[in-house]
Amino acid sequence: MFNKIRLWKNQNNSSILRDKIEEIKKSPVPEHVAIIMDGNGRWAKKRALPRVAGHHEGMKVVRKTTMLASDLGIKTLTLYAFSTENWKRPKNEVDYIMKLPEEFLGTFLPELVENNVQVKMMGYKNQLPIHTLRAIEKAMEKTKNNDGLVLNFALNYGSRAEIIDAVKQVVTDYKSGKIEESELNEEVFSSYLMTSEFPDPDLLIRTSGEIRLSNFMLWQLAYSEFWFTDVLWPDFNEEHLLEAIEVFQKRQRRFGGI
Ligand code: FPP
Repeated sequence: MFNKIRLWKNQNNSSILRDKIEEIKKSPVPEHVAIIMDGNGRWAKKRALPRVAGHHEGMKVVRKTTMLASDLGIKTLTLYAFSTENWKRPKNEVDYIMKLPEEFLGTFLPELVENNVQVKMMGYKNQLPIHTLRAIEKAMEKTKNNDGLVLNFALNYGSRAEIIDAVKQVVTDYKSGKIEESELNEEVFSSYLMTSEFPDPDLLIRTSGEIRLSNFMLWQLAYSEFWFTDVLWPDFNEEHLLEAIEVFQKRQRRFGGI
């Protein structure tokens, strides 16, 4: 297991990182990590590059984060790649982001397969360009029998819309007699959400210094630990992920108890 770990900073500090990884693995790691990958535009602006250059760099960080999450034994990694509100961005930027899953999966799918990663997606599929959807569905099909890390892309995802749709479905099921009022509880309601197959995130990470949820997993994050960093997503690296997990491991989760 140890030599499977690939370090994306292959420099002098790699043995320190290796030790850190091994140390972290001695305590329970979060089962489900969700990340709001923010700051791509600012990263590009700082370098006088077009915003899309930041998204492209951000895509590379997705790969590295996925590999480290897999090595650490994290079970689910949910990445907020595009929100239902992101359609408001300039067309060229939206078009570019919609091509990234193809590029990402076109390049890295063999590596994901090799590492037993299972690709999934949550979000409204109908509005996605067909080329984007095809790339994701192909990856889902090719990795469906893998049982390692679940890499769950939140693409055209919005939490309020998800909750409203869940409520509508509950009402439909109530009217048709599929569910009684007395049967509805938090667990049952969760089963109506796009995340029905996953446990709630244990840890939420948001990069770029913004301290908000931006319509991301509002129901599911009720008891999650939050870790915010000023680091822009394209600069996010192994040490940052490990730091977030270390902080998580030191927190006491009480779930409302004492
Ligand atoms: C937010 O940063 C980032 C996005 C809306 C896009 C995130 C997409 C990626 C990181 C690549 C996804 C890769 C795959 C494979 C789907 P921002 O543009 O809002 O940054 P800013 O706040 O600095 O402007």
